[in-house]
Amino acid sequence: MVAFGASGDLVRRKLLPALFHLYRQKLLHKGFVLLGYARTPMSDIEFRNQARDAVRTHLTEEYGIEFDTHAWDDFASGLFYQTGSYDERSSFDALALRVAELDAALPTQSNHLFYLATPPNVFEPITALLADAGLSSPHKTGWTRLIVEKPFGHDLPSAQRLNDHLLHIFQEEQIYRIDHYLGKETVQNILVFRFGNGIFEPIWNRNYVDHVQITVSESLGVGTRGGYYDKSGAIRDMVQNHVMQLVALTAMEPPVSYDAESVRNQKVNVLRSIRPIDPLDVNKWVVRAQYTEGTADGEEIPGYLESEGIPLLSTTETYVAWKLEIDNWRWNGVPFYLRTGKALPTKVTEVNIMFRRPPLMFFNSHAARSPRVRNSLTLRIQPDESIILSFDAKRPGLQLDVEPVSMDFVYNRAFGDSAISDAYERLLLDAMLGDSTLFIRRDETELAWDRVTNVLDGWALQDELIRRRGRALALPQYAAGTWGPPESDELLAHDGHHWHEPVFGGAR
Ligand SMILES: NC(=O)c1ccc[n+]([C@@H]2O[C@H](COP(=O)([O-])OP(=O)(O)OC[C@H]3O[C@@H](n4cnc5c(N)ncnc54)[C@H](OP(=O)(O)O)[C@@H]3O)[C@@H](O)[C@H]2O)c1
Repeated sequence: MVAFGASGDLVRRKLLPALFHLYRQKLLHKGFVLLGYARTPMSDIEFRNQARDAVRTHLTEEYGIEFDTHAWDDFASGLFYQTGSYDERSSFDALALRVAELDAALPTQSNHLFYLATPPNVFEPITALLADAGLSSPHKTGWTRLIVEKPFGHDLPSAQRLNDHLLHIFQEEQIYRIDHYLGKETVQNILVFRFGNGIFEPIWNRNYVDHVQITVSESLGVGTRGGYYDKSGAIRDMVQNHVMQLVALTAMEPPVSYDAESVRNQKVNVLRSIRPIDPLDVNKWVVRAQYTEGTADGEEIPGYLESEGIPLLSTTETYVAWKLEIDNWRWNGVPFYLRTGKALPTKVTEVNIMFRRPPLMFFNSHAARSPRVRNSLTLRIQPDESIILSFDAKRPGLQLDVEPVSMDFVYNRAFGDSAISDAYERLLLDAMLGDSTLFIRRDETELAWDRVTNVLDGWALQDELIRRRGRALALPQYAAGTWGPPESDELLAHDGHHWHEPVFGGAR
């Protein structure tokens, strides 16, 4: 495996710990070699030392696992480093030589996995030079694959350009576009829950489901990464990839079998069925907002516009709520409400399936008194990975009092604390095994960008209109530590709905 950008954060914090953990589970081939590549000058030994510090910190701080020095030394003997630029042919000729040397010295079987762990501005030069140096085609005894990190493009045209470029060099089967959400156990479990059981699928449609909510919230603000974030915003950073993937998995039809083509075909069908928004109509469907000063999850957060690196009149959204319609047989008339943002009260990702109410409400329950309360099924992706079914029950006693209760399945209670492996472990292993089920196909990424770009176009039109009138656009605001602006509540209230507040700690 050759990791470009090996001096960076992703390689240190995610890829190296994941590879070491795979190694500890004896899931890495004995010929596995990681060749780190970046501009920062480093020797193999320095890279190994840096890698050891990163993995040790990660294991002890995040998992409280003791670092096994003996196992590390063995693993680290397969780590190498190559200094080079991302845009010079001579660097890539040197890389090709180094790869050939490692292939000759170690039992790599000439299988080559290239990982683009750099910022996206160098994805194109790196891959062009891989081709020039003869590294993009499979060696006659092995395979060659490419993992591409997010963000994959900035809008539809740039995603199409990047796809055209990559597909000029690689075959689609060689390209593994990553969305690390798909590597999460709980995301994969959406499919097992739906298609591995007989009892849920019959009610998973417009006849029984009133609406669906998807929340992907972060409690942190932009911190010191404001300069980077301001060029992206919530819809590009979270909706185009993670949230759209959750929509696709929640809404897709059963695949004909569990393989990459069948699963991805069904996800693409969902994305294709998402009703495109007319950019002129964007406010009817989508709310954008920015956070102001406040306290989220115990942390004081300065307002977005006052944060380091943010332009004075930035209109980048830190929050987005979207009412999305899926025009297909199963979901017609069932709105999917999506929301994501920074500086929200807590970090949580969940899908809430909100069921229709009974035709008659006999009992004097909270649900009967409040037309907004309904049975729900929550698929909590993170944290406290769990599945929670909420319904009404009779409170014990001689009166017929009815109370909302819940039944829950909590991963770590059922399978133990260490049961959940990191998303990158699953994805790296799958890429090495040649299984692209949990990676994004070209048409998926472009369809998701297509729907998101309609929204971006609508916002750009509004911004332009306001500028022409000589005014500055002020986005709706929400105080850090709250669940978003009033406009987001109004989006649902218009349909007689309200946002489902995440509830932690088991039964209510
Ligand atoms: N970090 C995460 O948790 C995370 C999560 C999801 C996705 N990603 C994605 O993974 C990729 C890498 O993320 P990262 O956080 O590791 O990034 P990073 O630390 O900023 O960059 C990785 C390496 O790329 C090189 N680099 C940095 N800026 C560059 C520039 N403008 N032009 C050329 N090279 C540059 C640097 O190496 P040299 O200067 O030594 O060449 C740096 O060490 C990005 O596409 C990011 O969006 C990261």
